[in-house]
Amino acid sequence: MAVGDVARRSPAGPGVRPPSPDLEPPLRHVIEAQQFSPDLLERIFERAEGMRRHPGRFAGRLRGRIMAALFYEPSTRTRLSFEAAMLRLGGQTIGTDNAREFSSAAKGETLEDTIRVVAGYADVIVLRHPEEGAAARAAAVSDVPLINAGDGKGQHPTQALLDLYTIQRELGRLDGIRVAMVGDLANGRTVHSLAYLLSRYRGVRMWFVAPPEVAMRPEVKAHLDGLGVPWAETQDLEAVLPEVDVVYQTRIQRERFADPASYPALEGRYVIGPTQMGRLGPRAIVMHPLPRLNEIDPAVDPDPRAAYFRQARNGVQIRMALLDMVLS
Ligand code: CP
Repeated sequence: MAVGDVARRSPAGPGVRPPSPDLEPPLRHVIEAQQFSPDLLERIFERAEGMRRHPGRFAGRLRGRIMAALFYEPSTRTRLSFEAAMLRLGGQTIGTDNAREFSSAAKGETLEDTIRVVAGYADVIVLRHPEEGAAARAAAVSDVPLINAGDGKGQHPTQALLDLYTIQRELGRLDGIRVAMVGDLANGRTVHSLAYLLSRYRGVRMWFVAPPEVAMRPEVKAHLDGLGVPWAETQDLEAVLPEVDVVYQTRIQRERFADPASYPALEGRYVIGPTQMGRLGPRAIVMHPLPRLNEIDPAVDPDPRAAYFRQARNGVQIRMALLDMVLS
């Protein structure tokens, strides 16, 4: 990258794809992106693509099975796309929005006790929780598969799976892609999971474009260094735009700030608008896990390179594939 403000660059060299085990264990809990091998990723994407092309073949596949959705934080896409996925496969759903207020957590019940009980009512649990590590804690006591639908500032592995699936569908490849992650890279769980997944592919390069206050987490960068995956850290979005295949824009996560006074200085720092689209390659795409605030100008929406609403729709097929795999 020909920019002068790169704060840090990993050792040069091609990304290394770790060897796959001969026999994959069946998929049970979905907790973090690092658990997915390239072979398992391929199997998930193939199943999702099959479900997209032949929805009728899968319509009754999970008949009689129940998915419990326990959401202790707000959600539109993850909650509703999991529900849609289960219903499209013929299953049923139970659950609670705002579980902090409307479940017995409000009376002081521990997460572990809630999971032990709900595992007796459902065949799979989808959990969103404000505490990092909550999904792993829950899985440790769950008798049924547990899927992490976002644990605080930690990870959001199913979002990263649909992100990767979107890149593959939009660009036709994953090896060799160049991705800029932009915005709140410290608190945004989607970018943590996505960086781990991308590190599985050959020749991938990443740019982390963020104010220093919300820079990418050190453990993610250490993971990339360990695999020899090249990355660069910069504040200069304009310089990065012509270099990349994917701009992955994110929201500054106001709700994660210990000191709300620091939010206004960061909000609006990086905005993708018509000027920025003019610097992007003709086949590059703009992604966003959504919801967006002002970090992508709605004037960009009609541009065919704006992939974020297609990305959100891909969540249904990916979550259908995951539910099918953990319940098969
Ligand atoms: N991308 C995402 O996780 O969106 P929701 O918070 O609406 O589920």
